[in-house]
Amino acid sequence: MKVAVFISSRGSNMQALVKACETEGFPAEIVTVLSNNPEAAGLDFAKKHNIETKVINHRDFEEREDFDAALGDYLSSKKIDLICLAGFMRLLTPDFVNRWRDRIINIHPSLLPAFKGLHVHERAIESGTRFTGCTVHFVRPEMDDGPIISQAVVPILGDDTADSLAARILEQEHKIYPHALKLIAERKVKIHGSLATIEGASQPETSLSNPIADL
Ligand code: GRF
Repeated sequence: MKVAVFISSRGSNMQALVKACETEGFPAEIVTVLSNNPEAAGLDFAKKHNIETKVINHRDFEEREDFDAALGDYLSSKKIDLICLAGFMRLLTPDFVNRWRDRIINIHPSLLPAFKGLHVHERAIESGTRFTGCTVHFVRPEMDDGPIISQAVVPILGDDTADSLAARILEQEHKIYPHALKLIAERKVKIHGSLATIEGASQPETSLSNPIADL
């Protein structure tokens, strides 16, 4: 499976995907790392790993449609099968998303459908919820929407700041994103309407409480 990873800055999830794809027998190959931001730090990492990098700067386009058309042309030229959004901070047009339906996935740092959008960690802490996490999902035209492939649950601790929480969640992101990619590349993920199911998935049997209910 030929994969393009889209980033806008740091690219730590992209790095996790690259490292996974470098392991022997991994069923996907990252053909290109694309950024809308020429300064994205993650581009250097990709170059060092001999992966093609491409900058398509959204500022060079007046209309969103033209930017997305440039993305589409480039992806076709590379015969890309799947797009992994990894901290890509541009909203794609519904036309683009529909054309690539079921072939774009994203990682979001909350347990969707809770806390869509930005500033998720601040909002999660302020809400008082005891757990948050991260989600890998197929992309639909609406932001942070689409069939869920994988989630990890992360506790919110009493002294958490947005930064400490983000770091704890990021560790899980780096596990579930490569795993979700592997499942898709192995054709184990099936989409039924708004739901995705995983063939042969091992599921956890333990439940958690926070605080721990240790009566
Ligand atoms: C991650 O938290 C991801 O869930 C969100 O944006 C952040 C990107 O971080 N979509 P990185 O660029 O992958 O380090």
